[in-house]
Parts: sequence; C-alpha cells; structure tokens
Amino acid sequence: MRVLGIETSCDETGVAVYDSRDGLLAEALYSQVALHEKWGGVVPELASRDHVQRLLPLVDQVLAEARTAPEQLDGVAYTAGPGLAGALLVGACTARSLAFGWGIPALPVHHMEGHLLAPLLEEDPPAFPFVALLVSGGHTLLLEARGVGDYVPLGESVDDAAGEAFDKAAKMLGLGYPGGPRIAALAERGDPGRFRFPRPMTDRPGLDFSFSGLKTYCLNTIADCGGREALSEQDSADIARAFEEAVADTLMIKCRRAMEQTGLETLVIAGGVSANKRLRARLDQKLSSGGIRVCYPRLDLCTDNGAMIAFAGGLRLAAGERPDDLAIHVRARWPLAELNPVATDRPDENRGA
Ligand code: KG4
Ligand code: ZN
Repeated sequence: MRVLGIETSCDETGVAVYDSRDGLLAEALYSQVALHEKWGGVVPELASRDHVQRLLPLVDQVLAEARTAPEQLDGVAYTAGPGLAGALLVGACTARSLAFGWGIPALPVHHMEGHLLAPLLEEDPPAFPFVALLVSGGHTLLLEARGVGDYVPLGESVDDAAGEAFDKAAKMLGLGYPGGPRIAALAERGDPGRFRFPRPMTDRPGLDFSFSGLKTYCLNTIADCGGREALSEQDSADIARAFEEAVADTLMIKCRRAMEQTGLETLVIAGGVSANKRLRARLDQKLSSGGIRVCYPRLDLCTDNGAMIAFAGGLRLAAGERPDDLAIHVRARWPLAELNPVATDRPDENRGA
C-alpha cells in the first residue's frame, strides 16, 4: 500500500509518500512562517493562497524523490479537518483532483488522528491501547486510544490550547510568531527560581485543562517588572522559563492522573508542543521512572507534516475504507470521537522508514 499524503490545514504545506512495506519514501515541508511573521500570527487568506502556489510543485518533488510514478500509488490521503477552511480546501481539492485523474481513491484524514498516529511511524511503535496527549496550536486533548479511530475522550482544554498559550505568551514578550519554539529557546537562559506561575486546574479532580489564566499571569508579571518596554533580556528569559515550567508541569500532572485512572502503561504525546524539550524531560522524569512507557514522534513529525497524513490514510485505506462520494468536504471543526473505528491488526505494516 503506497499513499501520497497532503497536509494544508494551517501554515505548513506538507507532502509525503508512505509505503506500508518500505516506510516513509520521501517527504517535504514548506513552512509559511516568513509569510505570516510580520502579522504576528497566521493570516488565513494568505495561508490559502500560498498553499495554492506551493502544493503541486511539492507533490512533483516528493514523487520524484520517492521514485514513484502515479500508477504506483494506491491512494491519496489529505487533511480534511480540523483547521482553516480555506487552507483545508486547497489540499482537499488538489488531492481529490489528482486522485480522480489517476483513478485511485482520495481519503479524508483527521489532522489530530495524523498527529496521534505519528509515533507509530517510529521503530518499536507503541501498541494499542494507550493514553494520548495531543498538544497543538488548536487542541489540548487527553484520550484513551483503543485502536485506530477508536478514541475515548478523557479531558480537554476548556479555553486556550497549550500551543496557543505559548504563542500568546510569546507575543506578550515581543518574541513574535511562532511562539512555542521561541519561548523554549529563551527559557534555556531563564532562572527557574525567580517566578512561579500557577499549575491551572491541578488542585481539583478531573482531566480538563485551562491555559488562559497563565496568559493573565504572564501579563501581570510583565507589568510587575515595569512593562514590556522595561524588560531586560534576563527578565524575559525568567518569565519564559516560569511559563514553560508551568505548562510542562500541568501537562505532566494531568497525564500522570490519566495513567492512574485508566491503568494503562503507555503514554503517547504528539502535536507541535510535543517538540518541547522541557515537557519531554518532565514526562520522562516523572512517568518513565514510574514504569510508564512514554512515546513521542521524532521532532520533525511533532509539528505539522505530510508523513503523518500519508500514514494515517494508509492505515485506513489498507483496512478497506473508501470515500463515500466525489464531493469535496472539509471540516473546520471535527471532534475526534466522531471517527469510525478501523480494524487494523498489522504491526508489520506500521513501520517507519
Ligand atoms: O501541531 P502543530 O504544528 O500545528 C497545529 O496543529 O496547531 O502545532 C503548532 C503549535 C504552535 O502553537 C507552536 O507554538 C507549538 O506547536 N510549538 C511548540 C514548540 N514547537 C511548536 N510549543 C512549545 N515548544 C516547542 N518547542
Ligand atoms: Zn497540527
């Protein structure tokens, strides 16, 4: 089963070819960071237009690198949601048209399922059932993954997503977009003992998250230091460090609780924020030491990419799933729990490159 994967849900054009026997054959990513940077965040219309320009050349490039002719493909998988509607439509229209022309099925893929399954591309992939923490720019979800498409929600953010909180805190510190990696880099030089931010909603039972209060806390701390203009480099680094510590600790506490509640022994972390080194270290320190296996995708598969979409679509195609009709649908919002469970019992086919 060889699949072309297309990801255009936000500000990255991702394309990959995944083969269930030979693994990831080629992948390419075009990031729109430079395009959106001066606006301080993603401008949806600019994102859509840029996907239109980048996508087909990337498809050509990736097929050539994968030494794959269209006749060798069994399907095209594309992100159908959640995400920016215009950006999603570019990927959906392109994928559907290519697949129609090539006479193969086009399969809509849920972006968060792509993230969730990305760690299965690694050597020695985690086996179902496991607990998954999905932390991206738009979502913070804890769920029990019983199989492909069989996801039981355990908790979610009641307001901002973890990545969104990173992006907003970065903006307050004048670090620009995208915020997560910039806060993480600055926090390296920060003193962990100077400020202590709260760990929201950890003092009560439950697995939901709330990150919007950290934003206010960040704003107040900046004001206490005399306002953004008065911040020294060290002040900013100390605030970034305290903020990052608070998010990492909060996520770790809720994950530990989810492991206790479910009795499962494997935790999978995925989505852009799973690239955060302090979060990874905190989870390793507090959970791996307690006998929990913690699995992450490699760093370039944490953030948006075409490989995870090709892989997720490939699993569904291999299980016999086919699109209902030729209509092009995208969903800006799409709860993961609405997905159909898929019968896949193919550990030999879950291999990465
Ligand atoms: O999964 P992703 O690439 O796109 C979405 O599906 O949203 O996640 C992007 C989010 C952004 O909010 C970005 O700031 C955050 O992931 N992010 C990070 C790091 N790298 C990306 N947050 C914290 N630390 C990082 N190293
Ligand atoms: Zn994503």
